[in-house]
Amino acid sequence: MKAAFIEEQGGPEVLKYGDLPDPVAQSGEVIVDIHAASVNAADWKVRSGNYGSIPEFPYILGRDFSGVVSAAGEQVADLGVGDAVFGVCDSGVEGAYAEKIAIPASIVERKPDTIPHQDMAALALTGLTALVTVEDTLNLQAGEKILIQGGAGGVAGFAIQLAKHLGAYVITTASVANHDFLRHLGADEIIDYNTEDFTERVADCDAVFDTVGGDVARRSFAVLKPGGRAAFIASGASAPEPPHADLKSLRPKVGRDRRHLERIAALVESGAVRRPEITVFPLSEAQAAHAISESRHLRGNLVLAVR
Ligand SMILES: NC(=O)c1ccc[n+]([C@@H]2O[C@H](COP(=O)([O-])OP(=O)(O)OC[C@H]3O[C@@H](n4cnc5c(N)ncnc54)[C@H](OP(=O)(O)O)[C@@H]3O)[C@@H](O)[C@H]2O)c1
Repeated sequence: MKAAFIEEQGGPEVLKYGDLPDPVAQSGEVIVDIHAASVNAADWKVRSGNYGSIPEFPYILGRDFSGVVSAAGEQVADLGVGDAVFGVCDSGVEGAYAEKIAIPASIVERKPDTIPHQDMAALALTGLTALVTVEDTLNLQAGEKILIQGGAGGVAGFAIQLAKHLGAYVITTASVANHDFLRHLGADEIIDYNTEDFTERVADCDAVFDTVGGDVARRSFAVLKPGGRAAFIASGASAPEPPHADLKSLRPKVGRDRRHLERIAALVESGAVRRPEITVFPLSEAQAAHAISESRHLRGNLVLAVR
């Protein structure tokens, strides 16, 4: 099969494109013929060694995908050849920048017929992260006020729509070129972080969802009301220390299961979450997609068209 992969680490790591052996389904796994894979910010961080060293080369990147089941191992009863599915690789496992992947059937979900593969691939990890953060970790309620940092990114775009769907008041931050896009997603207030200090515009929030990290993450506590809660996904493995004991600082634990994928599919099918704005590259040009992701000024999601 064709795949985009890293051959070694230690220099300026680039993605090669070429032939690698087909995967084989173990018990409980399906082989998915991938139609589209998503490019996430984590991917260039892994490629460039920011997430630790890679145990074995060649190493195929890519955490989420949409495609069609082409084989099923033993003990797979609920999916069969020809089923269109989407999913996120198990924690610590990658390999979606490829024509085929082996994955436990228990962590893939049927793709809604009305949503194209490229859109579903873009919504898998971003949607999972947004759901786990907004619903499971922050437990956001109707009528609450939330600041979502980095509104134009893939995770935040899903989170803004989800928070509005739950009945919250949503404030977000983005460059001015992305403000119309974010209004369209339903944001109630949008702050241009290049010209305004969000800590001077926003106060008394029940919750913060930070997707930016660094100084933005640390300063986000300032907008919370007493007892407020903040969740961080771009500050490494643990959340920053809160300045007061009555503020909750949370690091969402983004696990894998079918239940959350079902919820993503339902939210998209019902129209509560729109099909994402995607930029598509052929699999052979994965390195070019990484350059955009690495720039940190991407709007929406990047997708690799595999077939
Ligand atoms: N399981 C997990 O923990 C998990 C899963 C997925 C993602 N993540 C992490 O979450 C982060 C977000 O990922 P993503 O793919 O959604 O988006 P991304 O590609 O990292 O975000 C890009 C967006 O960030 C915005 N941005 C950059 N600097 C900003 C600032 N100072 N204030 C406000 N916005 C700013 C840019 O908007 P403008 O162009 O408007 O500036 C751009 O749209 C990444 O660090 C990623 O590694 C973690």
